Amino acid sequence: MSANFFRSVKRKIVRGIFQSDRFKRYLETSFFGQYFVRRQAVKSFDLMAGFVYSQILLCCVKLNIFNFLKDGPKDIGRMSDFLNLDKAKFDCLFMGASAIGLIEKDEDDVIDLTVQGHIFANDKGLLALILHHEMFYRDLMEPVAFLKEKDMETSLNKYWGYVEQRGVPSDAESEQKTENAKRYSELMAISQPLVTDQLFSAYDFTRHTSVLDVGGGKASFSIRLAKFIPGINVANLDLPEVCEEAKKNVKQAGLVDAIKIIPSNFFEDEIPSGYDLVTLIRVLYDHSEESVIKLLQLIRKSLSSNGKLLIAEPMANNIFPGISCDAYFWFYLTVMGKGRPRSSKELIALLRDSGFSKARCLKTTLPIQTGVVLAEA
Ligand SMILES: C[S@@+](CC[C@H](N)C(=O)[O-])C[C@H]1O[C@@H](n2cnc3c(N)ncnc32)[C@H](O)[C@@H]1O
Repeated sequence: MSANFFRSVKRKIVRGIFQSDRFKRYLETSFFGQYFVRRQAVKSFDLMAGFVYSQILLCCVKLNIFNFLKDGPKDIGRMSDFLNLDKAKFDCLFMGASAIGLIEKDEDDVIDLTVQGHIFANDKGLLALILHHEMFYRDLMEPVAFLKEKDMETSLNKYWGYVEQRGVPSDAESEQKTENAKRYSELMAISQPLVTDQLFSAYDFTRHTSVLDVGGGKASFSIRLAKFIPGINVANLDLPEVCEEAKKNVKQAGLVDAIKIIPSNFFEDEIPSGYDLVTLIRVLYDHSEESVIKLLQLIRKSLSSNGKLLIAEPMANNIFPGISCDAYFWFYLTVMGKGRPRSSKELIALLRDSGFSKARCLKTTLPIQTGVVLAEA
């Protein structure tokens, strides 16, 4: 019997339960039923309160609480002096951050980070991402209007200057192109280890002699690769305004001779050939189906018959179907432009349609952050 059959039976049973007061009462009072009801109630509450949780997290980052507690616990008086809030507001933030598991207080009124708190405190990339979410939250102030209005202008769309822009850019916005590229490239560079740590443990780069990172931003990945495999021939391709930042970064790392910087628009120019591996890190999910196929075809054309392409980005359904982080990426990428999260299965189909002979998914240790797909020309 098919999965659909079982799904439809399950749906019928669930609907029956929710339409029967008697059965609902039974669930609420029976031993196993109570466990189920409590779990569902917590889940419903979390869904309803999620916005408040994100605002508390944002406050902790903006008020520097993670840094303040990073090196050791502090007593409550010191914490109160540090935050300089009136008592009611201090209690509100303190109790809120404790309730969502970021900080904890012991009997001696000493406050420290929890495990979750340490995760945030020690990850600059995550902290930078949380800060830039202020824009995203503003864009979702009127979520229904966003869904209904065609091509609504959003702050995220303006922030990511390389995605198709909505509305007519003002003169000031056009002049700020370089400044804008600098800002988003900085955010990408600081958050890149979230993805590249996973990539390095999933794939053995030592089998390659030349690697082209397409949409490589400030060349963080190229720098890491050149340091990891001395003598490897690495190139970083990105838009001219981003390449200015990449050049500075490469110079600072003392790798000018090892890394070639290629200013180029990958939709308009040819992808340079002669590399046995091309990488696309957090690039495809920013773009529509049509653009992704175009880029994949251009990359396929640039590769020799034994060339390979490695795609690394957060992928949909990456742990199991319907996981809640998919909701984040669907909304983020739609608010930003025309991109969307794709499952490894969808990417593999697009790779085949673009002329790649084989493609498969590689295992990563934190699939919630990064999925990896390897394709052969
Ligand atoms: C989300 S960022 C990822 C950067 C980097 N790979 C990382 O993971 O940190 C996408 C990158 O693609 C670049 N990009 C977007 N459209 C491009 C185009 N048409 N030509 C070249 N680069 C482009 C952007 O400038 C940006 O650096």
